[in-house]
Amino acid sequence: MNLPTTELLQKDKEIPYDLLLLADESIGAIQKYIHQSDIYVYRHDGKIIGTYVMQAVDDHTIEIKNIAVDQSFQGHGIGRKLLGDAIDRAKEKGFKRIIIGTGNASIKQLYLYQKVGFEIYDIKRGFFLDNYPEPIFENGIQLKHMVMLEMDL
Ligand code: ACO
Repeated sequence: MNLPTTELLQKDKEIPYDLLLLADESIGAIQKYIHQSDIYVYRHDGKIIGTYVMQAVDDHTIEIKNIAVDQSFQGHGIGRKLLGDAIDRAKEKGFKRIIIGTGNASIKQLYLYQKVGFEIYDIKRGFFLDNYPEPIFENGIQLKHMVMLEMDL
């Protein structure tokens, strides 16, 4: 498979909520950041099968708020390439640091983010207990804490 050339989704285009919902629990949660963020999409045969969302935290730091690959295309290296693409774009925009957060039970994500060079710098304890009405489980482990990872650019 040819791997990512991503494009910035224009503001008047339909937001790919189906994909974003793979990474976040609800449309309400996504709407808290999506309108102040840039959405990058990756297409295969014209269809959006990958996306990531970035939002500046301040002049120095940018955060990947959401990254998702269509389930039938996962495990083919697209997620890793999208992360590389996000890092390149963050550098081009002049940011010096990029951050990303994931749940304590999100083993694959924790593996992938550290494999591409992110390092854990903080744990937001109780984040998922405080912000989500129902318990969430991944890999048979309850999501409780948000693990924050960073990379200097
Ligand atoms: N367990 C452990 N590692 C795995 C698994 C698994 N089940 N599946 C794949 N991997 C490994 C791969 O082997 C690969 O490692 P390698 O290159 O050393 O072999 C690595 O994970 C990355 O694999 P990719 O194929 O590049 O990743 P993929 O295209 O599947 O995308 C992503 C990863 C974006 C996390 C995707 O699985 C996804 O959309 N998941 C659902 C949404 C989600 O959880 N998004 C992140 C939430 S956090 C946030 O958005 C800020």
